Amino acid sequence: MTIKKVIKGSGYTAVNPDEVQFLENILVVINQAGKIERIVTPNEADYDDVLTAAPEVIELAPHQYLLPGFIDTHIHAPQWPNAGLALDRPLYQWLNDYTFPLEAKYQDLDFSRAVYDDLTKTLVSLGTTTAVYFGTIYPESNLVLAEMCDKNGQRSLIGQVSMDDPELNPEYYRDESAAASVAKAETFIKKLLAKNQEFTIPQTPVITPRFLPSCTLPALKGLGQLAKQYQLPIQSHCSESDWENNYALEKYGKRDTTVLAEAGLLNEHSIMAHGTLLNDEDFSKYQKAQASIAHCPISNVYFGDGILPVKRILQHQVNVGLGTDISGGYSPSLYDNMKQTILSSQQLQSGVDTRIATEKRGVANSRVSAKTAFYLATVGGAKATNLKIGEIKPGCFADLQVVEIKPKPYQPQSSDDNFESLIYNTNENNIKAVYVGGKQVK
Ligand code: GUN
Ligand code: FE
Repeated sequence: MTIKKVIKGSGYTAVNPDEVQFLENILVVINQAGKIERIVTPNEADYDDVLTAAPEVIELAPHQYLLPGFIDTHIHAPQWPNAGLALDRPLYQWLNDYTFPLEAKYQDLDFSRAVYDDLTKTLVSLGTTTAVYFGTIYPESNLVLAEMCDKNGQRSLIGQVSMDDPELNPEYYRDESAAASVAKAETFIKKLLAKNQEFTIPQTPVITPRFLPSCTLPALKGLGQLAKQYQLPIQSHCSESDWENNYALEKYGKRDTTVLAEAGLLNEHSIMAHGTLLNDEDFSKYQKAQASIAHCPISNVYFGDGILPVKRILQHQVNVGLGTDISGGYSPSLYDNMKQTILSSQQLQSGVDTRIATEKRGVANSRVSAKTAFYLATVGGAKATNLKIGEIKPGCFADLQVVEIKPKPYQPQSSDDNFESLIYNTNENNIKAVYVGGKQVK
């Protein structure tokens, strides 16, 4: 394979939830297909020859580090105008009062273009090289989102949102019937697959029943069929809050997870958001199905009614990615969500109600580290999307970010210290460059 460019510098890549590898002074050799062809370490005999032969060499400045681009496994693109607003109501009211009225505006394709252009640019500049989006119920608007992802250099998975139940969706914002939900999803799939012929970065359609309370059983089953027919990824919300979790129990006498599984919506291509109310039996189903959970720690503070036990879930061998859940979460940054992952896990461990005795207050062994949070934002997201991304490793796409962090002379600065500082202290200004498929997009 022809070599296109080489990036020279040091970086970090996650090996497992507890281990991050420091890659010192490596050469990342990127090929014509935009993938990492080879990683050359300084002790290899041809290190200098590889540098000399490269058509283009990008050398990182001192205090700059290469990280894999992050993967946002759960974000509602149309809710971007409300990010940081309107977080004062429980989920059901929040959807009806703020969210559905906003999403209904995307029939307007000029409005769609303006919002989606800004959102995709913002995410890329924050190091999010891949995003798994919920769109709206409008196929043409979702195609605009795909165009903006391609224009601004982001890899994406995009869902035509399906919601047909006349009981729980407002008349002004719902699909006319279960059949219409399935037909619209199929229209979107076909049009996006056709558009991919013109795009530089292929964008993937995702089967997207909004959540159980939004969809009738025939719609869920029809969408499960469609996922199978086109071999597509699937996303939804699952056991997000007491209200949602109880809704499934009351309507079906079954748990959220079971209803989704029976409709053919829980498999190795599924990404289910939140899961704060999932129990051990559900985790076993996720593990058997090889389905992933999108952890949205900021959003969960508002709507989750609990803290996702990330550590316990990983011990159950269930894959976990990280999501911003804009605008249930206020921040588009996965750096902020990594920090909240750590903070929430600390609170789960120590407990929050000081009227309860210390030893009974929290859940032992719940705390996760910056390394685990980084693993979720990279490898966890790659596993959830089944894409070759999220690692600095041969065979992966060269979806990368260059982050600069300058410790003060009096600060500790081992490679472990620098890593922790990168996770806690990076903001948009510290992200100096972003690459997707080897092409610079910031
Ligand atoms: N459940 C159904 N729709 C939504 C949504 O837009 N955001 C969140 N957080 N939960 C949901
Ligand atoms: Fe959500």
